[in-house]
Amino acid sequence: MPVAATPNNLAALWLPFTANKAFKAHPRLLARAEGMHYWTPDGRAILDGTAGLWCVNAGHGRAEITAAIHAQAATMDFAPMFNLAHPLAFTAAERLALIMPPGLGHVFFTNSGSEAVDTALKIALAYQRAIGSGTRTRLIGRERGYHGVGFGGISVGGIVNNRRVFGSLPGVDHLRHTHLPENAFSVGQPQHGADLADDLERLVALHGAETIAAVIVEPVAGSTGVLVPPLGYLERLREIATRHGILLIFDEVITGFGRLGAATAAERFGVTPDLICLAKGLTNAAVPMGAVVAAEHVHAAIVDAGPAGIELFHGYTYSAHPLACAAAVATLDLYAAEGLFARAAGFAPHWSAAAHALRDRRHVVDIRAFGLVAGIELAPRDGAPGARATELFHRAFDAGLLVRVTGDTIALSPPLIASEAQIDEMFGRVGEMLDELA
Ligand SMILES: Cc1ncc(COP(=O)(O)O)c(C=O)c1O
Repeated sequence: MPVAATPNNLAALWLPFTANKAFKAHPRLLARAEGMHYWTPDGRAILDGTAGLWCVNAGHGRAEITAAIHAQAATMDFAPMFNLAHPLAFTAAERLALIMPPGLGHVFFTNSGSEAVDTALKIALAYQRAIGSGTRTRLIGRERGYHGVGFGGISVGGIVNNRRVFGSLPGVDHLRHTHLPENAFSVGQPQHGADLADDLERLVALHGAETIAAVIVEPVAGSTGVLVPPLGYLERLREIATRHGILLIFDEVITGFGRLGAATAAERFGVTPDLICLAKGLTNAAVPMGAVVAAEHVHAAIVDAGPAGIELFHGYTYSAHPLACAAAVATLDLYAAEGLFARAAGFAPHWSAAAHALRDRRHVVDIRAFGLVAGIELAPRDGAPGARATELFHRAFDAGLLVRVTGDTIALSPPLIASEAQIDEMFGRVGEMLDELA
């Protein structure tokens, strides 16, 4: 199949989260994708170690999803969802609810993870007001959290660069992160750090529970380096939140749809939040879509018990877009038909062993692996944080392997269809490159 030509003029496009000047001096372009691979415009194959951007969980170019999108585009391109709807929106919501933890059955569609996060935060505020707790307006996030780029998401997020230029919502506070040096090279969930969940208790003591609406965490933090929750941490956070009437939000934009070997991290860890944020793997990333799934009591308080009229003044032109709904239903069908979540769970021990085999390679200071996601943390170069891992990313791309870099951590999160040989190839090549790297 022919691939697209490299464009002559790169000036007009402003790339997101990219060093634009450096990129345009040395562009890295992807032109085609199928299965476990991308191809560059000049036809070079790139093994996809990152499922695109943690999102193409069923692998690229799946015919079933493409066909569903084509068919829907030919039938009805768009339908407004304000006081109107279309049948596939209900099907998509019902299908998604079926794989959520028991008790979470009400789906609000968005178009991205960032929108899902801001929607969940708004639902939390609306819930507290609906039950007569309108003083609860404070939102709690966690250091080293990434919750997208909306003003809500950057405020509860724990990445200073995402906030520095833009500020923060008022009335936000943060738990400490769970990245402890004594947990380095833990296999599975780390032993130390469950007590860090007590930070929520400290914030209750500091601010008063009657000021706190919700706490949001990624069950496994992805974008800040694959941080696996210490044993007992999520359970303890759930218990403290419940005791103080604080809603618990899991941001599962990365951890959803099989990444940890189950439909959700909530299911994988056996901890049920009040709200779950999803995106990415929901449509296998073929059409942008996100969602918030709400627990029965949250929906009942806002919608069932709400006064007549619009219950939640929130929504997007493209909420439940027909093409996204078609892609979501086809994707969920594919996950079920191919048993991809169970497949990921089955491969997890091999994945973990392959990741931890890099332990003695040059520069490696920690390895974290869980489900089909791994972070290989490198010692930073003196005075140049992130430079070593970024150089590895560039070398890997040139050598035909896509990895993701966040700070000094190399993250791998392949499509769930990856073979054992491809997993070995990814870690093997990263290991060789580490040895060559200054
Ligand atoms: C945990 C988490 N939340 C939210 C987002 C934001 O999603 P989006 O880029 O679709 O807005 C991301 C993106 O990587 C994420 O990892």
